Amino acid sequence: MTATAKTPTLLGLPGSLRRESYAKAVLAGLQAELAPAIHLEIGSIDLPLYNQDLDGHAPLPAVDAFRQAIAEAEAVVIVSPEYNYGMPGPLKNALDWASRPYGKAALIGKPTLVISSSPAFTGGVRAQEQIHGTLLAIGAKLLGGPQIVIGAVADKVADGKLVDRASLDFATAAVRRLVEIR
Ligand SMILES: Cc1cc2nc3c(=O)[nH]c(=O)nc-3n(C[C@H](O)[C@H](O)[C@H](O)COP(=O)(O)O)c2cc1C
Repeated sequence: MTATAKTPTLLGLPGSLRRESYAKAVLAGLQAELAPAIHLEIGSIDLPLYNQDLDGHAPLPAVDAFRQAIAEAEAVVIVSPEYNYGMPGPLKNALDWASRPYGKAALIGKPTLVISSSPAFTGGVRAQEQIHGTLLAIGAKLLGGPQIVIGAVADKVADGKLVDRASLDFATAAVRRLVEIR
């Protein structure tokens, strides 16, 4: 079933560029689990390095498309790994692009959920803290409540999708709460 006018449409952003990324697999699992009631579009953070010189009246096409995708989504779900106890550089870069134009960024007031995942049992929770900080700086509408941290993610993915029942139930409950605060 395709999304209808009444189907909430969310944008999922993986914090990893890796082809076989577990964060992407988490999003793919959520996408399958939430359909058809909620449509989760999976986007990309593959953008050039932020440079304020390039962030003028005519934004780069890739940046324009990224900002547009955020603007059109009713809510955003970020699923990210942790790199060296922190947020992966490509995700910080994408959020910096998404934070502008100053005062008019599409993320301002946007309901946003952050999920972290890692093959380690710590589940990327330190990255999650940093992502929350950056989203607060931007003015996104962060979903509070229990943090969705998926540890040992390598054991919970099959055929490119999160399949672990407990993780899916925990994460989809948060997505449903996100839809309610739209
Ligand atoms: C540069 C780098 C730093 C990493 N640092 C951490 C870390 O601090 N904590 C952690 O749990 N995993 C760390 N890892 C392992 C990642 O969690 C693992 O590679 C994971 O699969 C990356 O996410 P992805 O599968 O979505 O690409 C690191 C991996 C890389 C490449």
